[in-house]
Amino acid sequence: QQKEEVTVTFIRANGERITTKGKVGDHLLDVVVNNNIDLDGFGACEGTLTCSTCHLIFKKEDFDRLPEKAGDEELDMLDLAYDLTDTSRLGCQITLTKNLDGLEVKVPATINDARS
Ligand code: FES
Repeated sequence: QQKEEVTVTFIRANGERITTKGKVGDHLLDVVVNNNIDLDGFGACEGTLTCSTCHLIFKKEDFDRLPEKAGDEELDMLDLAYDLTDTSRLGCQITLTKNLDGLEVKVPATINDARS
């Protein structure tokens, strides 16, 4: 059975838009890795919630419809991210659903690897 595709656009701090596709059930980190999207240092801990380099900024309406709310571990890690906003999440913790098709996320200008 073929999984449904979800279109996702990453917007760099300089305004450059990178539109790509992920599959339902993928994490946003998987979308970056699987499509070889060149985001320097992104996803350094490979989704183990120890780096905060996968910090992404969502539009309010998207943030509100994300399938899962951030857990305590994610919130602790977000506290270490630069440019934290009210609609920030960690990309390795966001699972794509069909409902998120057309999602646009901003990539912060600076990433912070909490491990260093
Ligand atoms: Fe490290 Fe998400 S990839 S916290």
